[in-house]
Amino acid sequence: MKIPDEIRSAWDDREGPVVLTTVDNKGVPNSIYVLMFKLIGDTIAIADNYFDKTFNNIKSHSNACILFITNNRKSYQIKGTISYFDKGPEFDDMLQWASPKHPRKGVAYFQPDLFYNGQIQIN
Ligand SMILES: Cc1cc2nc3c(=O)[nH]c(=O)nc-3n(C[C@H](O)[C@H](O)[C@H](O)COP(=O)(O)O)c2cc1C
Repeated sequence: MKIPDEIRSAWDDREGPVVLTTVDNKGVPNSIYVLMFKLIGDTIAIADNYFDKTFNNIKSHSNACILFITNNRKSYQIKGTISYFDKGPEFDDMLQWASPKHPRKGVAYFQPDLFYNGQIQIN
């Protein structure tokens, strides 16, 4: 899904860490902060340095959402799907942008489906 211009410019104005939520196979949600990520086309790639429950959830085909806030206090949510690479071109690319000060065990690729500014859906 193509990221709408409004979301793309809000992403450029985001402030602080981003919240990534996944869900386990019993429906229990789990949210983490992430700071090591890169927008690649319409995909948000997130370096896995310390994923634990998040890793297990991604491996059990969790849906996911990303929540962030802009520097003028607008909140944006992106719902989507997430997949995981611990080898191959996606992993090799992550090694180019993620700091070697962290373990860089793998990379999660978040593919957006739905976009919201607060409760308002953006198309
Ligand atoms: C500000 C902040 C930024 C973080 N950024 C990342 C990150 O980019 N990648 C990562 O793997 N963990 C990151 N972490 C750690 C995760 O938030 C989390 O603690 C870890 O995934 C283990 O939790 P889990 O069992 O819920 O997956 C960060 C933590 C904080 C507080």
